[in-house]
Amino acid sequence: MSIVNENFLRLDGRYLFQEIEKRVRAHTQSSPQARIIRMGIGDVTCPLVPCVISAMHRAVDDLSHADTFRGYGPERGYLWLREAIAQQDYASRGVVVSPNEIYVSDGAKSDTGNITDLFSPTAVVGIPDPVYPVYVDTNVMSGRTVIGLPSDEANDFVPLPPDDRRLDIVYLCYPNNPTGAVITREALTRWVDYALRTGTIILYDSAYEAFIRDAALPHSIFEIEGARHCAIEFRSFSKTAGFTGVRCAYTVIPHELHVTASNGASVRLSSLWERRQGCKFNGASYVSQRAAEAVCSPEGRAAVQAQTDHYLSTARMIRERLQQMGLRPCGGLHSPYVWAHTPEGMDSWTFFDLMLREAGVVVTPGEGFGACGRGRFRLSAFADADDAREAMDCMERVIKN
Ligand code: MLT
Repeated sequence: MSIVNENFLRLDGRYLFQEIEKRVRAHTQSSPQARIIRMGIGDVTCPLVPCVISAMHRAVDDLSHADTFRGYGPERGYLWLREAIAQQDYASRGVVVSPNEIYVSDGAKSDTGNITDLFSPTAVVGIPDPVYPVYVDTNVMSGRTVIGLPSDEANDFVPLPPDDRRLDIVYLCYPNNPTGAVITREALTRWVDYALRTGTIILYDSAYEAFIRDAALPHSIFEIEGARHCAIEFRSFSKTAGFTGVRCAYTVIPHELHVTASNGASVRLSSLWERRQGCKFNGASYVSQRAAEAVCSPEGRAAVQAQTDHYLSTARMIRERLQQMGLRPCGGLHSPYVWAHTPEGMDSWTFFDLMLREAGVVVTPGEGFGACGRGRFRLSAFADADDAREAMDCMERVIKN
């Protein structure tokens, strides 16, 4: 009898970004002099903004003195941070979220993966394709059936709710990773209405909302009427404020959100999450939470806006250059990601290897995000702007040849 969770055997051998790293390492070992420009994983390159750095220094000072020292914090996050988030990220946009509905964590990657603990292994999960691979992998690990919801240029990368089958859970991520697409208020309302009608839970990942520059687009699913009864929202400071190395994020679970157990009892989802986190998590670090609090200050918000503007200008440049190369790009306007076609429909891993070997540029192969990513690739605009320009020159040279 097997004692391992055999669902893991259904996964690809490596997580997408581990496979990319393995190929990059093999290339640098065989060509140690080769220059590599990384535009694969969405990892930030700008340093932390000054008010965040000061807040972190102050937090370290707090930890250095007996009278201000902190040990374990509350596993759902310090109240001062949850209040700042409720005010700055929600109330300032007219959205009511209570600090008691906010759960601070060390990352949206962990939260979007860990939330699967709350649901039955028999739950049917709808996941757009292409998609951030964490959603699929973590559900496969739990043995769930995953239904792919194809998305492409024809539906503006926003799949319609299915009319032929019920989904228990659906993941939506906008601005989208990997395509950089956005969702309109109307399209999001269609999903909320569907979820309310069918009892579906929407897991809404808005980790990239800080890149939205069109006032008509929703930043939060809770801007949509009824969403408090059917949605959980995930947010992160990683891409907003350059926290990929600092680690701080949060999840919002409204008090109204209930599911029905098999005995007919109504269960509040937030109480299950509290139970889970109380057992498996000891909270984000005090220093990270003070840093996140600084991001919510007026000075922090202005600095973060300047930083996201900077990445967006790189994204626009990438988009324009790919357009000139005839690769039909999209995204990059309200997102740090640009999604494009490989030349002449080349297989996306073949294109990845070609770009690595001949152009010295790391892209992310579209197929790593799902079957609908075949013949596509993603570029991340988090690279240094000069490096990104050089990468475009190198790619163009190889593609022309
Ligand atoms: C990505 O490149 O898709 C992201 O950086 C991965 C992540 O946020 O975990």
